Amino acid sequence: MKLFLDTANVTHVAEIAAWGILDGVTTNPTLVAKEGKDFKETVLAMCKYVPCVSAQVTASDAEGMKKQAGEYAKWHTHVVVKVPMTVEGLKTLSFCREKGIRTNCTLVFSVNQAVLAAKAGATIISPFVGRLDDAGENGMALIAQILQAWNHYRFPTEVLVASTRNPDHIMQAATLGAHIATIPYEVFKKLPLHPLTDAGMKKFMDDWEKVKKAAS
Ligand code: G3P
Repeated sequence: MKLFLDTANVTHVAEIAAWGILDGVTTNPTLVAKEGKDFKETVLAMCKYVPCVSAQVTASDAEGMKKQAGEYAKWHTHVVVKVPMTVEGLKTLSFCREKGIRTNCTLVFSVNQAVLAAKAGATIISPFVGRLDDAGENGMALIAQILQAWNHYRFPTEVLVASTRNPDHIMQAATLGAHIATIPYEVFKKLPLHPLTDAGMKKFMDDWEKVKKAAS
């Protein structure tokens, strides 16, 4: 399973990359706007830490998306072009497949959209589980359905669980066998934690102090 950080904050990427378990980063226009930094510089800075950085096109027509995809792909070999799940996006995904440009199809909310994106050659698809939960649907149920379809057809497209909101989403992504989960910084920081680990560490340290005292 690959773990990505969902952010446009380079400092956060550096911090989590230092753990030795970070496989990639996903950005989107909202995250980039939040940081208020230059988009290309941000993407290039992140490419130093991980082999896979999603950079989203902002054009709404296929010609504009294809142009941006070509430009982003030239920035760095670690760039993955993020393309929205629209008809224009499908045309762009096919174009990128022909050009050998890696893609991440974003804003996927149904099995049908997932299948279309995979057939168009998306390297990765990003179903948004949190937003489905917000809308009163079951986001993780969609991941289970997509993976079921993938078992039938063996699409090479990787399923990335996006719009994750809590550690339970990551646990479910892992147990369902999703290829990737992208995780906000605040959620990522919670993943190594367990109260029994803290309690166990405290007891070990307290007991070690006793050993040192007895030896002195
Ligand atoms: O990876 C997609 C993600 O950034 C969307 O998350 O929380 O805005 O639904 P959210």
